[in-house]
Amino acid sequence: MPGDEDYILLTGTSNPALAKEIGRLLKHEVFEPISFFADGEVRVRIPENIRKRNVFVIQPTSNPANNNIMELMFMLDAARRASANEITAVVPYFGYSRQDRKEMPRVPVSASVVASMITGAGADRIVTVDIHSEQQQGFIKGPWDNLYGSFVLLPELKKILTSDDFVVASPDKGGVERATAFAKRLGALGIAIVFKHRDIDLHNTSEAMDFIGNINKKDVLLVDDLIDTGGTITNAANLLKSHGANRVFVAATHGVFSGNVIEKIEKSAIERVLITDTIAQPAKVAKHKKIQLVFVAPLVSHAINCIQTGESISKKLNP
Ligand code: R5P
Repeated sequence: MPGDEDYILLTGTSNPALAKEIGRLLKHEVFEPISFFADGEVRVRIPENIRKRNVFVIQPTSNPANNNIMELMFMLDAARRASANEITAVVPYFGYSRQDRKEMPRVPVSASVVASMITGAGADRIVTVDIHSEQQQGFIKGPWDNLYGSFVLLPELKKILTSDDFVVASPDKGGVERATAFAKRLGALGIAIVFKHRDIDLHNTSEAMDFIGNINKKDVLLVDDLIDTGGTITNAANLLKSHGANRVFVAATHGVFSGNVIEKIEKSAIERVLITDTIAQPAKVAKHKKIQLVFVAPLVSHAINCIQTGESISKKLNP
């Protein structure tokens, strides 16, 4: 691979296992430059000369988002001040991405603030996986490659959805495009759309009101970008099941998994949930009988390879 030696990989403490797997696939050492002072402040020291070398900083900004964002900022700043060539912030899960618009008066567009911080700290480009809304790429002037978790999820789903008598469903209107893409790729009978209601003054609660689509006696695959409290997918799954759906599966890229989400999934009509490891998961999630963890390192390592060699990411990853 041209330029193979000219880059280094760094990881913060957010998901070192993912970074190491990416490094293993790229046959590249992954440096862990973070340590902590006694008072909890972050210290970064890159152990190698990186002058004129490309740097990829791998750090999902998941919970605790603010700590993980600060680690990312300091690694980018260290790389910039050490005269690195091109610096890429690889942020498989982009915290704050749901706060992507001014949906009411006197609120920030937090995702835009974080994106500006990343480029301000020294990144020339950003790589994400299934950012909440693709137009966020416009928050920065430079390149932002958003990868699709479907690259690793679809092969696993094909093993489960073996008959063609199934429907792909979106748990809300925002996910219709994603559901349509999955339906097309998997050869589903059609799509269904659940109508979700969220009271803007209440955090973390939503209701599945109704749906359109023919799901009676059919297996259903619900797809979403992320599962946080689990309200969206469990409400949708229960609604579809109560209207005659056969088995209900769920595929989502990011397992944010807050609060009692595991309990909700256990009690729900959901047969199995597939999530990727963009966010590090504790053993109780990774080993849960209803949950299947799908590894995202092949996708991210292909993208790093393309950035380094100048190949087309879309040609390689969305053929
Ligand atoms: C919403 O637009 C997102 O795509 C997810 O459906 C939502 O954020 C999931 O949150 P929760 O699991 O808390 O319902």
